[in-house]
Amino acid sequence: MRFSFANSFTALLALGSSVAEAGSFRNKREQAVTVTQTVTATSSEPTAWQWDAGATREVPIHPSCNATERAQLKRGFADAMKYAQHAKDHILRFGNSSDHYVKYFGSAPTAEAAGWYDKIVNGDKTGLWFRCDDIDGNCSQDGWAGHWRGSNATMETVICPLSFTTRKPIEALCAFGYDVANGKLNTQFGIDLIHRLFHVPTIGEGAAEHYADTYAECLQLAIDNPAEAVRNTHSLQYFALDVYAYDIALPGEGCAGVLKEEASSTGAAPAVPSATATEAPSQTSAAPTECHTHADGVVHCS
Ligand SMILES: *[C@@H]1O[C@H](CO)[C@@H](O)[C@H](O)[C@H]1NC(C)=O
Ligand SMILES: *[C@@H]1O[C@H](CO)[C@@H](O)[C@H](O)[C@H]1NC(C)=O
Ligand SMILES: *[C@@H]1O[C@H](CO)[C@@H](O)[C@H](O)[C@H]1NC(C)=O
Ligand SMILES: *[C@@H]1O[C@H](CO)[C@@H](O)[C@H](O)[C@H]1NC(C)=O
Repeated sequence: MRFSFANSFTALLALGSSVAEAGSFRNKREQAVTVTQTVTATSSEPTAWQWDAGATREVPIHPSCNATERAQLKRGFADAMKYAQHAKDHILRFGNSSDHYVKYFGSAPTAEAAGWYDKIVNGDKTGLWFRCDDIDGNCSQDGWAGHWRGSNATMETVICPLSFTTRKPIEALCAFGYDVANGKLNTQFGIDLIHRLFHVPTIGEGAAEHYADTYAECLQLAIDNPAEAVRNTHSLQYFALDVYAYDIALPGEGCAGVLKEEASSTGAAPAVPSATATEAPSQTSAAPTECHTHADGVVHCS
């Protein structure tokens, strides 16, 4: 109240002085006007309308992560962005003329898969937390490298210590005997984090979800239900790995691999369209079990 009275008082004084000035010499008035304009321009400096005010571009890392965990997570997210960006670039360049595209997404129109990758790279990350404090007490369970907090906090993901000791950087793609067909999706930190990002409702929107899990099931889904394949998190992960390997890591060669029979949980594996698949010894037993909780509360481990 006192504050606003003081303001009005000042305004009245200012008005009074300008009225007084109106009667002075033209010359002087022009000067006064000039001064007034300058003042006006400064005081009502247009507050630039920033349409994306409050946007969060980087994935927020919770204060519970210590310096080394934070550094590794940042590194992992940088990998995730590289995978997603390249997957999108590949789709935008080749569309469905890409064998890789057809392999994972069948006859589905290309915009949806490209859009999901774009959400990973450019989608707003406001409200997300990736935390390291095992707040739900689940990290002690054997093989748990992290989990989406589900009903406890849908925007939050816990990363357990196991992630930091087992995940590989993007430069190690196709190394250590890894191939896409037989390797686990969670050996690559960046690819694992893409999966975790899709669980967050503002990123995956409850649509980029689990429709098929194993490599064989994902290839079959591309044939049986392309519309689901383009929003199946595992298909999006496999595609990103495969095209990054083929286009960037080992150009023109990649490490698609050929699925070994016993790795398939559905019996006969569908033919892999890639003609350049190279057999490589698989050494994935050291990879941790990947567990995650679905929206319906079902815990999936693979
Ligand atoms: C961060 O926490 C992890 C897991 O508790 C631990 O292994 C690591 O040594 C910590 N880093 C630092 C710099 O204290
Ligand atoms: C590829 O996309 C074109 C449209 O750009 C469409 O006409 C064609 O049927 C698609 N082919 C496959 C195999 O999905
Ligand atoms: C929620 O957090 C509690 C610990 O506070 C944990 O026991 C429980 O498993 C969590 N619930 C879910 C669905 O994760
Ligand atoms: C934590 O573990 C318990 C027991 O396995 C499980 O019921 C719960 O859903 C888990 N929480 C999360 C967020 O995965």
